[in-house]
Amino acid sequence: MSSHIKTEKKTGTKHNKPKTVSRRRFFYLLGWGFIGMFLSAVLGSTIRFFFPRILYEPPTKYKVGYPLEYTLGVSERFKKQFRVWIVREVDKLYVIQAKCTHLGCTPNWLSSEGKFKCPCHGSGFTPDGVNIEGPAPRPLERFKVVLSEDGQIVVDESIRFRGERGEWNKPGAFIPT
Ligand code: FES
Repeated sequence: MSSHIKTEKKTGTKHNKPKTVSRRRFFYLLGWGFIGMFLSAVLGSTIRFFFPRILYEPPTKYKVGYPLEYTLGVSERFKKQFRVWIVREVDKLYVIQAKCTHLGCTPNWLSSEGKFKCPCHGSGFTPDGVNIEGPAPRPLERFKVVLSEDGQIVVDESIRFRGERGEWNKPGAFIPT
């Protein structure tokens, strides 16, 4: 009898011990799991910091063809692509940004009326961009233009010229033709 009890006790001890070890191991692994997840998150943000997502923005400097391609008046050739009008006068060519100076809508060129008209709140501008009606507080802005080595017109949107500041006659505000 006594030897049987001893055996049972031994067996019981044998069965209990692995259970305790297994629970410990479970928490051990769980702990390492959390540490692993934390380190992956830190590593991920570090990599994202050094390799930020690339934003594909439209270029700020681009060519719009040769001066001779433009006849007198307002050209809408690049309005869709670059949101600009190319305007040619008798002695010069310049580039107007197609952005209303009221709240930034894109005006339309009304050739029959000879003016730009904003569809949002009715501002109107002369063909050279001067505000003549509606709430727009100032003229449309112009971008810098130069001729490249191959004779094409290069627009540089990083430099602007504002009419109300008397900047439209500055070098770079137009190309003499
Ligand atoms: S945005 Fe052009 S008139 Fe208001």
